[in-house]
Amino acid sequence: MDAPIRCFSCVEDVIAELKPIEPVYVLQPAKFRAAAKRFLDGFPGDPMYAVKANPAPLVVDLVWESGIRHFDTASLGEVRMIKTRYPGAICHFMAPVRLTGHAKAAFEDFGVTDYVVDSDYELDKLLKEISDPAKIRIFVRLAAALGGALLELSSKFGTNPDEGARLLKRVVMAGAKPAITFHVGSQCLSAFSYAQAVEIARRTLDKSGVKITALDIGGGFPAPYINSEIPPYLWYFDTIRESIETLEIPGLPLLCEPGRALVAEGLSLITQVVSRKHDRLYLNDGTYGSFDELTLPGFDVDYPNRVFTLDARGHVRGLAGTAKPFRVYGPTCDTLDVLPRPQMLPEGISPGDFIVFDAMGAYTVAVRTTFNGFYPDTWVQLGE
Ligand SMILES: Cc1ncc(COP(=O)(O)O)c(C=O)c1O
Repeated sequence: MDAPIRCFSCVEDVIAELKPIEPVYVLQPAKFRAAAKRFLDGFPGDPMYAVKANPAPLVVDLVWESGIRHFDTASLGEVRMIKTRYPGAICHFMAPVRLTGHAKAAFEDFGVTDYVVDSDYELDKLLKEISDPAKIRIFVRLAAALGGALLELSSKFGTNPDEGARLLKRVVMAGAKPAITFHVGSQCLSAFSYAQAVEIARRTLDKSGVKITALDIGGGFPAPYINSEIPPYLWYFDTIRESIETLEIPGLPLLCEPGRALVAEGLSLITQVVSRKHDRLYLNDGTYGSFDELTLPGFDVDYPNRVFTLDARGHVRGLAGTAKPFRVYGPTCDTLDVLPRPQMLPEGISPGDFIVFDAMGAYTVAVRTTFNGFYPDTWVQLGE
């Protein structure tokens, strides 16, 4: 049984009541519901939640309660976690490389019937582990290194149309259902990247002569960060809908695997300024905790922030004043524990003040470490 979570009406109340020394994750259920609704209403197929973006049970519960029933579970651990917590969930094992025996366990113990391959080796391995290939769909992953995304996801996985066509034919020969998937890259700012990737899929189909049974267009839908103006989601959905028509397979089942877009906006993080030296600030969380993703090459965005101060009577107020750039360090002893870009913060910011970072739901909680004895894990909720 999970411990009940404390509910507040605004972050100011959280700060006033808890005066938190440790970082605090602030869940906002209404924002999770809005993100899920965007996909459930607008995407012309079944949206899966890519669990890797944030596997915290409190977060996945909100995704589930928002109506998402399909999950991109890219490891046996994720399959087990999702099927144990939500027995009615539909899991799809969307990793192109699996540990030996994990496809067999996912199929036999949890009834998972969707798998991905991008090589002969993985296809052979998969077919050895699945007793009845006719029961499974095998998605051939195509590379889609198109440059529209801040984080590319096609140099590690994905094959080209010639190889993809050959693999699709092998899937058919093996008696499994053929399908195609790709990932245009994470924080993809160009809706057109999806159309380009669908065109790569179309060429692959032309070469193979195979009629696919499903298309999974992956994740990549962006979140609103500083330095990352995002186009309206409708542009993505309309572009995808239109480009799919070029495949000329009426009624083709369509899936997508958003991670970031389903969870980023629903989580804020309250941090405290621990120390200040001139224009250097030391916070109680850093790159070994919730801020790891900011250090990825090419991911040159920042989380939106708001600063609050507690006055002598314990009242919380927003800290205004001219903003200036501060170098922001995390709490560990490692020199690398520093945010890669200066943060614009009010010049009067002092130790004891709080910085609330928004849109912190994706690839933050999921990758925090216990390095140097720090591990942010305090959770509260705003509203119902
Ligand atoms: C196979 C796969 N699907 C989905 C996702 C989720 O991507 P995003 O969070 O950009 O939507 C990822 C991210 O790494 C991925 O590798």
